[in-house]
Amino acid sequence: METPLLQGSGLHKAFGPDQALAGAGLTLEAGEIVAIMGPSGSGKSTLLHCLSGIVRPDQGQVLFRGRDLATMPDAERSALRRTEFGFVFQFGQLVPELSCLENVALPLRLGGMKRRPAERMARTWLDRLEVGDSADSTPGRVSGGQSQRVAMARALITEPSVIFADEPTGALDTLSGELVMRLLSETAKQTDAAVVLVTHEPRVAAYSDREVIVRDGKTREPAVTR
Ligand SMILES: Nc1ncnc2c1ncn2[C@@H]1O[C@H](COP(=O)(O)OP(=O)(O)OP(=O)(O)O)[C@@H](O)[C@H]1O
Ligand SMILES: [Mg+2]
Repeated sequence: METPLLQGSGLHKAFGPDQALAGAGLTLEAGEIVAIMGPSGSGKSTLLHCLSGIVRPDQGQVLFRGRDLATMPDAERSALRRTEFGFVFQFGQLVPELSCLENVALPLRLGGMKRRPAERMARTWLDRLEVGDSADSTPGRVSGGQSQRVAMARALITEPSVIFADEPTGALDTLSGELVMRLLSETAKQTDAAVVLVTHEPRVAAYSDREVIVRDGKTREPAVTR
């Protein structure tokens, strides 16, 4: 059998007396979009953080292309996060002092690329996400929906193999949310990126290939798939 792109299994994580994860797992194949749904406090964000190596689980294992994140040297794990993973959160978390263009170019600049080629690519990505007009504005001067699309351009510019998105439309109205999801799913499919998408909203989950439900720190897949 082929090695999955990303595989978390038997994941446990406690925060003091709170058992955030109690045996959760998720297998992700290249290019698929998986929606993680479930009630507030059920462990969705913690699962995403464990899968992406931000949080170390108390028990269980996360394998990226068959390699255990826990036994990887720190430098290698952070290099992996920088090159193979992209992140989008509920609030874009753009650097307020930089222009949208500079924000999108940042991952390439941090990877050592020179300003001109990095900004040229950033412009292409802003255009793909239909926010080219915001290139020279600072994040404080664009709308919530535009700033999420800038954040997605920043996540996609390194062409990661996995995008982790934690309620990327949570702070948006329905219309901007739909546009963000349409562009995220289109660009993910075009670049063959897999997406782990945490959401409360069924209409957002509708953009996924498959749903996983988290409840009391455990995952299950509903019998019905699309
Ligand atoms: N850093 C933390 N410190 C302490 N407790 C935490 C921390 N992160 C999560 N928890 C607890 O773990 C449990 C699961 O939290 P998590 O954020 O994963 O839920 P969630 O499903 O993402 O919820 P929401 O839909 O509200 O975002 C909750 O009881 C939460 O209070
Ligand atoms: Mg959450």
